[in-house]
Amino acid sequence: MKDYIATIIKNEQIADNIFAVTFDLGEEPCVRAGQFGNISIDGTHLLRRPIAVCKTEGNEVTFCYQIKGQGTQKLKNMGAGTRLNVLMPLGNGFYVEETEQKVALVGGGVGVFPLISVLRAYKDKKDIAAYIGYRNQGAVCGVEEFAKAQKFIAVTDDGSYGAQMNAVQAFAADLEKGNRPDVVLACGPTPMLRALKALAEKEDLPCYVSLEERMGCGIGACLVCVCDQTNGQRARVCKDGPVFNAKEVVL
Ligand SMILES: Cc1cc2nc3c(=O)[nH]c(=O)nc-3n(C[C@H](O)[C@H](O)[C@H](O)COP(=O)(O)OP(=O)(O)OC[C@H]3O[C@@H](n4cnc5c(N)ncnc54)[C@H](O)[C@@H]3O)c2cc1C
Ligand code: FES
Repeated sequence: MKDYIATIIKNEQIADNIFAVTFDLGEEPCVRAGQFGNISIDGTHLLRRPIAVCKTEGNEVTFCYQIKGQGTQKLKNMGAGTRLNVLMPLGNGFYVEETEQKVALVGGGVGVFPLISVLRAYKDKKDIAAYIGYRNQGAVCGVEEFAKAQKFIAVTDDGSYGAQMNAVQAFAADLEKGNRPDVVLACGPTPMLRALKALAEKEDLPCYVSLEERMGCGIGACLVCVCDQTNGQRARVCKDGPVFNAKEVVL
C-alpha cells in the first residue's frame, strides 16, 4: 500500500450521474481484483473517499464513481493534470480458488465496478457468467467489459434495458435452468447482497460479498467501518474486507 501522488489523465461521464477517472500513478501498482483506493479529494487525510479499483493498465488506474455528495461532486469537476493523493491498494479483494472453474458475478449499482476488475483478472482462466443489474437504461455502463465474459445478462429495475428484474433474480433464474457456478462473487446494495446470501445458503453455494461502509482511515485504525459477523464478533470492512464470505457476515 502506498500514498500515491496521482495525476488525473482523464475524467469523463460514462452514464447518468456516473464518471470514470483515470490516474497516472507514476509506477505500476500491484492490485488484486476487488481492492480499493482511498482518494483525498479535498487534500485532507481524514474523510478520503473509498472507491473500488475498476481497472489498471501499466501505471494507470481507473475508478468509476457515482455522484453522491460533496466529494464526488468536487471530483467530477477536476480535469487532466490535477494531482490528488490516492492511498492504494486497500482491503483484501476477491480470490478465486484453483478448483473453482465456473464463476458467477452478481452486481448492482456501484457494485458493478469492482466486478469489472474481477472479470479482467480471471476472464482467460475461468468460465465467467455476469449477472448485472442497473437502475435503468441511462445507468448502463461497463457493457463492453462484461461482454467479454462467457455469459453476460444485463437487467434493469424498470425493464428499459434487458429484462425487468434485479441481478439476484437474473442469477436465480439461470440457476433454475441448471447453470450452477462453483462460486459466486458479488457487490452491490445491502438488500441485494442480503437476498443473494439467502439464495446461496439455500443452494449451498460458496458466496463472497464485497461490503460498502462509511470509512475514515481505510487502513484499519479508526473503527468507523465495522460490521457484524455471524460469530458475534465485529470486523473492519476496510482491512478485514471489503470482501467477506457471505456466511460469516450479518447483512
Ligand atoms: C470499499 C468501498 C468501495 C467503493 N467503491 C465505489 C465505487 O467503485 N464507485 C462508487 O461510486 N462508489 C463507491 N463506494 C462508495 C463511495 O465511497 C461513496 O459514494 C463516496 O465516498 C461518497 O462521497 P461524497 O463525498 O460524494 O458523499 P458524502 O455523502 O458527502 O460523503 C461524506 C463522507 O461520508 C463518506 N461516505 C459517504 N457515503 C459513503 C459510502 N457509501 N461508503 C463509504 N463512505 C461513504 C465519504 O467518504 C465522506 O467521508 C465505495 C465504498 C466503499 C466502502
Ligand atoms: S475505515 Fe478506519 S478502520 Fe476501517
